[in-house]
Amino acid sequence: MSVDGAEGTEHAAADAERRWAAVSIVLILALLGVITFTGIHWASMPPSGIEPVDPTTLHVSGEFVEQNLGAQIRADGSVIVRLIGQQYSFTPQCVVVPADTKVTFRGTSADVVHGFLVTGTNANAMLVPGYVTTFTTQFSHLGDHLMPCHEFCGTGHAAMWAHVRVVSRTDFDRIMSEKSGGHCD
Ligand code: CUA
Repeated sequence: MSVDGAEGTEHAAADAERRWAAVSIVLILALLGVITFTGIHWASMPPSGIEPVDPTTLHVSGEFVEQNLGAQIRADGSVIVRLIGQQYSFTPQCVVVPADTKVTFRGTSADVVHGFLVTGTNANAMLVPGYVTTFTTQFSHLGDHLMPCHEFCGTGHAAMWAHVRVVSRTDFDRIMSEKSGGHCD
């Protein structure tokens, strides 16, 4: 190979290296651009429907004080259930709800992230400290449904569960008239 030929190959290699370096720099700049854009975009338009709550004062004041927990009948006849998750239990541990009635759950956590679901139904949500979780559902099958925590929350996670007791509307109204909160027994 002539000296010229060797130099030509070196030039070609150097050019190729520069082109690939340029490609990687462009990729890095593009990724930084995406990060910057989404950061500014999210910060300027936070998601709607977020309800913050102070997890350190849940038991002292506000919506989640003890006498508010459990079931309550609303003016339109639907039912609202408020609950708190904490390591390693739910408050209340068992709540009575009526069948074939709109039931709105409102819950939050006093410490770490917990999950809860009502077995055999589509009720399934997370309880995040600092925020209120809310959803509305309806139960059709009478009886006790297990309500386990389904988010690993520490050493006692496996023992963290409660019950939702679905009763007829008539029984529910009787239970509520005898004792507020709809707690089992
Ligand atoms: Cu609470 Cu797992």
